[in-house]
Amino acid sequence: MRYSDDLIEEVRSRSNIVDVVSQYVKLQRKGSSYFGLCPFHNEKSPSFSVSPGKQMYYCFGCGAGGNVFTFLMQYENYSFQEAMKALAERAGIQLPEVEYSREARAEADRKALLLEINKKAARYYYCQLRSPAGAQGLHYLKGRGLSDEIMQKFGLGYADKFNNSLYQYLKKEGYSDELLKDSGLFIIDERRGVTDKFWNRVMYPIMDVNSRVIGFGGRVMGDAKPKYLNSPETKVFDKSRNLYGLNIARSSRKKNLIICEGYMDVISMHQAGFNNAVASLGTALTSQQASLLKRYTDDVLIIYDMDEAGVRAALRAIPMLRTAGLRTKVVDLRPHKDPDEFIQNQGREAFEDRLEKAENSFLFEIRILYEQYDMTDPQGKTDFFHKTAERLLRFEDEIERSSYIESISRIYGISQDMLQQQIRKLAMKGTVSRQMPEETRPQKPKKEKVSGSDTAQRLMLTWICNYPGILTELGSNLKTEHFCNPLYREVAEMLFQQIEAGEINPARIINHFEDGDIQNEVAGVFHAVLPLETPEERKKALRDVVCNMRELSIKTRIAELPLTDLAGLQKLMVEKKELEQLRAQFPEIDM
Ligand code: GTP
Ligand code: MN
Repeated sequence: MRYSDDLIEEVRSRSNIVDVVSQYVKLQRKGSSYFGLCPFHNEKSPSFSVSPGKQMYYCFGCGAGGNVFTFLMQYENYSFQEAMKALAERAGIQLPEVEYSREARAEADRKALLLEINKKAARYYYCQLRSPAGAQGLHYLKGRGLSDEIMQKFGLGYADKFNNSLYQYLKKEGYSDELLKDSGLFIIDERRGVTDKFWNRVMYPIMDVNSRVIGFGGRVMGDAKPKYLNSPETKVFDKSRNLYGLNIARSSRKKNLIICEGYMDVISMHQAGFNNAVASLGTALTSQQASLLKRYTDDVLIIYDMDEAGVRAALRAIPMLRTAGLRTKVVDLRPHKDPDEFIQNQGREAFEDRLEKAENSFLFEIRILYEQYDMTDPQGKTDFFHKTAERLLRFEDEIERSSYIESISRIYGISQDMLQQQIRKLAMKGTVSRQMPEETRPQKPKKEKVSGSDTAQRLMLTWICNYPGILTELGSNLKTEHFCNPLYREVAEMLFQQIEAGEINPARIINHFEDGDIQNEVAGVFHAVLPLETPEERKKALRDVVCNMRELSIKTRIAELPLTDLAGLQKLMVEKKELEQLRAQFPEIDM
């Protein structure tokens, strides 16, 4: 479903971003921008800026950025359509009844059908579990201590011993093979025809936050392998953007959410009253899942298995959660393996107690680091000490850092002064940020690895926004095709068009992209700070950037050229000569 670009633009231009953001964030004017505390991450000094000129916002702390639409989408968790409606209403603009394009309607219909199939399958499995055919399944689940009530709450079911019961049932309901194929519930084999994916398993329907069934996990009732089968990803099932149990946990009204690894763990915790537990869907936690959690809470408890794999998974999850702006603690269940086992053995009070004692995630990371060094060896001790100092340096907030220094010195018996000194030394060298793995940096948005050439293209776009005049001056020396990164090229195309038409409108360019992460990235282009102050610096940098971009663009095209395309190669060689000339004699450009 789409509104016309003109209508979107009308709503946008009549919704002053400063007014809209001010409803949520206290803003103060500084120069031509407004600043306030970023609503998308925790901070103590304002790094969230709103520019009335560009009609955009950008947080220098966490990288959140966009226009008035994306602000509401991020803040209120609205879809684009919902943001559009809210802003139109505010501006007194009447929206037409939404007109679906034909493809959009077909796509929506198909998704609705797949959801309907999932729902029917879930109901089918559910009834099976409670029928004579499901006795073994029921026996298994009861044997694991589940009450009728909790089984009902999670819609647990059973796939019987035959390999096409569900297929038969859904065929009778009138669904086509072609549609059933897309549901992920069946296996299609040329010789054997269509069979059920799940049979002889207890079934865990997986629901999205709105309690719509989007997929299934199926567990064997014993020790056979594989223990779990999961639905494949489908049009309605995206494993990286959903969390098991969140449909219930979202309204638990607890002070935090618990993230664990297994379906069974979630169910077991809910049964014991910890209805704020969720799990990822058989894969490692993703950044999208971290953002999803952030919509509902600021505090997360990690309870992963107490084995090496679980520790590794926690070490991977922590920076991701941190990046999403979540405070994180890690729960220790030793000597038990997972929450289910712990609760079965020690009960809910003991479990509650462990939650209370959860360890701060930074201290957890340092403890794991500590375990990797031989502390009886002076070298081991020194290495641990250096690594710890490096990590502490990552805290930009002075107060936060010194409170961690205090804790660490207490726990590991390292003198606070020595830590401080080491940190100062590292800070002066200024090399740490490059040596440190990206993911250990607190409170920084996770970015795809940005290569040097991407940075150049990005910088170019920022320049053009700030000094549109250079585009005319550069003339044919810079074309959109010189942007090798497809996203930047797309942005460049729109930007060049806008400049030609006489008006730069970054907010409109952002709207062109639907994915939130991409919108953020594009917003970053328009808000990047230009590090170069003097015109001389800028001129030199401009020459380097243009020439490097063009060099890369030539290299890329040569690499992509078919071996036999000699004419093409010749053309590129000419271009290379031109580039050498350009490097030697770059036009004088005022900026
Ligand atoms: P129980 O063994 O019944 O207590 O299940 P659990 O939920 O505790 O599972 P476990 O901790 O072993 O695994 C955690 C999660 O990983 C599960 O909930 C599944 O999502 C996934 N998983 C485990 N085993 C398999 C498997 O064999 N195949 C696949 N695809 N996923 C698995
Ligand atoms: Mn388990």
